[in-house]
Amino acid sequence: MSYGLLKGKRGIIFGALDENSIAWKTAERVHEEGGSFVLTNAPIAMRMGTINQLAEKTGATVIPADATSIEDLEKLVSESVEVLGGKIDFVLHSIGMSVNVRKGRSYTDQKYDWTAKGWDVSAGSFHKVMQVLYKQDAMNEWGSIVALSYMAAQRVFPDYNDMADNKAFLESIARSFGYFFGRDKNVRVNTISQSPTPTTAGKGVKGFDGFISYAEKMSPLGNASALDCANYTVSLFSDLTQKVTLQNLFHDGGFSNMGVSDAVMQAFEDQQNA
Ligand SMILES: NC(=O)c1ccc[n+]([C@@H]2O[C@H](COP(=O)([O-])OP(=O)(O)OC[C@H]3O[C@@H](n4cnc5c(N)ncnc54)[C@H](O)[C@@H]3O)[C@@H](O)[C@H]2O)c1
Repeated sequence: MSYGLLKGKRGIIFGALDENSIAWKTAERVHEEGGSFVLTNAPIAMRMGTINQLAEKTGATVIPADATSIEDLEKLVSESVEVLGGKIDFVLHSIGMSVNVRKGRSYTDQKYDWTAKGWDVSAGSFHKVMQVLYKQDAMNEWGSIVALSYMAAQRVFPDYNDMADNKAFLESIARSFGYFFGRDKNVRVNTISQSPTPTTAGKGVKGFDGFISYAEKMSPLGNASALDCANYTVSLFSDLTQKVTLQNLFHDGGFSNMGVSDAVMQAFEDQQNA
């Protein structure tokens, strides 16, 4: 269903790799709500993914950019303003990657140049994106910037590895930069802390199947899907949430405030009685 919430708004969406990506679903929903946007991803992901299909479907222009490269980001932002015909109203940062996770190194045996790379891609890039937008004065007043996070920033999920630290840093950047963006440009900055979601990044985490089922059983509303996340993001891009900023917003079916659920208790009781 479309409500026309983003009619006339322009944006940049980072991180649509394939149709499972949260950014992919968000692009589809933003399009349905009347928004126009540039799609961007790392040059290597352009070759691996299917972003051009999404661009065709949504009438978007694709501009490749490595989100850790200031030079790429400067080009991306100035070209986006040109292509879209005006300043930017919304930005989605949907980027995450840990080399330690990818290569199976445990949290207690990190290779620190990999740690630094993961930090730069997953958190530093968010600062870089906002700094470029800020310096180019590319955001419209009452615009909205959203990045995606995970609850391992606050609680221990052992297999989430150094991504937990990256997400804590990402959420802190949202607050710190959000202050300046709010004070100087009336732009809001928030992170959404999303349920485990079966995407390329999600499924790359060891034990993913176990913890997505556990979260499903713990959450009174069940896990939030990628489409649910897209809908929530649309609401944060819309004019209906103009005074929400500096927040980390849990979007997880209630998981983050649970201690234990009947369903999880039952699973243990069944195991004991077996
Ligand atoms: N899937 C989950 O369980 C889950 C849960 C909470 C939060 N998140 C977060 O959601 C966001 C999107 O991930 P997803 O689950 O849709 O997976 P995904 O793998 O589809 O998306 C990750 C994206 O990051 C991009 N990327 C990696 N390095 C980049 C770089 N240098 N420059 C630009 N882009 C780069 C990838 O190409 C890819 O498109 C990430 O921040 C992730 O941590 C995911």
